Amino acid sequence: MSDKPMEKIVALCKRRGFIFQSSEIYGGIGGFWDYGPLGVELKRNIKDAWWRDMVSGHDNTTPPPAAPSAYEMVGLDTTIIMHPQVWKASGHYDLFYDMFVDCRACKARFRVDQVQDSACPHKPSKRPGEHSECDLTEPREFNLMFKTYIGALIDPSSEAYLRPETAQGIFVNFKNILSTSRVKVPFGVAQIGKSFRNEITPRNFTFRSREFEHMEIEFFCAPEESQDWYSYWRDRRVAWYVSLGLSSSKLRLREHDPDERAHYSCGTADIEYAFPFLSEGEFGELEGVSHRGDFDLRSHMEGKLIREGNELVVERDENGQPRHAGSGKDLSYFDDARQQKYVPHVIEPSAGADRATLAFICEAYDEDAIPDENGVPQDRVVLRLHPRIAPIKVAVFPLVKKDGQPEAAAEIYRGLKAKWNVYYDEKGSIGKRYRRQDESGTPFCVTVDHQTMDDGTVTLRDRDTTVQQRVKRTELAAVIEERIRTA
Ligand code: GAP
Repeated sequence: MSDKPMEKIVALCKRRGFIFQSSEIYGGIGGFWDYGPLGVELKRNIKDAWWRDMVSGHDNTTPPPAAPSAYEMVGLDTTIIMHPQVWKASGHYDLFYDMFVDCRACKARFRVDQVQDSACPHKPSKRPGEHSECDLTEPREFNLMFKTYIGALIDPSSEAYLRPETAQGIFVNFKNILSTSRVKVPFGVAQIGKSFRNEITPRNFTFRSREFEHMEIEFFCAPEESQDWYSYWRDRRVAWYVSLGLSSSKLRLREHDPDERAHYSCGTADIEYAFPFLSEGEFGELEGVSHRGDFDLRSHMEGKLIREGNELVVERDENGQPRHAGSGKDLSYFDDARQQKYVPHVIEPSAGADRATLAFICEAYDEDAIPDENGVPQDRVVLRLHPRIAPIKVAVFPLVKKDGQPEAAAEIYRGLKAKWNVYYDEKGSIGKRYRRQDESGTPFCVTVDHQTMDDGTVTLRDRDTTVQQRVKRTELAAVIEERIRTA
């Protein structure tokens, strides 16, 4: 790809209606993004593929390749605002912060770990602290949870938080799920939903946003099997991105050093992608896979936990009471097969739907030259999205707006629409119509022409190769279905 790939990708997202700045007509609002008509389809397809592959299509009876055993998967949809004690017991209230510095001169705020990569608003552009008038404060903590109030009273008793992750909704429903769905350990609970983080410096398009969607699994297993499940989920999740088109050479699995891990973590690996806004050789986090031990369920039983040596213990106040109390409910599990009671360990593959969408767009963006109707090479921009996640699966065109071709094309369009998101277009030259679909990532274009009216065949054009094949109208859906399946 040529220079400034990220600028080109952002421009394409705007031009084709994938992603817009939120509240753009009022000048936008930092860290918030809207998905346009194509973007909403793409992101929905990614979430649907995740849900299908991880949850609804999962075979509870057979161990998937490399899994320690068969396991069950169920889904959940919990609220964005939860009881405030959830965030106190989980540790988010005390610990979910970034360190920041303010500049007293220009009033700008920077994340401490990003000062070296940030630009001071003063011109000429330098790093914060490098201008003579810069006056940076000492680093301070900034909690990333958005605060709100429940009901009419605006006082501390009505404070609540927008969730910064969907995971806690799963942990606090652990008992409900066990008692209602008859699952047995090992099993996973999946949730897709909005999360909110008041990021100090949202940046890199949608990569770091203040409102985004999580796709999270909390996988509950017996403590002695937890390392095997951790390995399984790390590899399984990398393979999922590859199966939908991310190139394995741009992905890496990076195991955290012990001193980089959260205090409760028994192991964390980031699945990282070489986003084009990063320098050569750098990678950005796409998904985290964590071995969280029994930290979460114990926190919601006993109260906020802190590490003392090798132990996680309840943090206590000066009166010896838990600093932040848990629910007091028993969240342990009786394992019939082992005849043992224990607090299950948790493996958490936690992905961001927006980051995944951005990675798939970045991977798919390409520029090449293809011959026009007269054989003259023309530059084109093409989104080589995997057909499974492409917003529009098929575009149907009549070659000309006469001779019954629009009617025949519309009939084909309606037939295919029963299965997929299909687009009908009769405006402009056929070359322009192809080009528009190439930029939208549409893998297949069907054209009705003179021959269709004679022998009932249409051309089926492949976005990536631009090769056109004549296919019988009656076989079109089956041919496309097979191509999507084997892509
Ligand atoms: N429950 C664990 C958890 O939330 P995380 O590493 O903070 O872990 C998981 O987040 C994933 O959520 C990240 O890998 C990323 O894909 C996405 N994510 C996190 N913060 C984000 C943000 N500010 N904007 C967009 N996506 C974000």
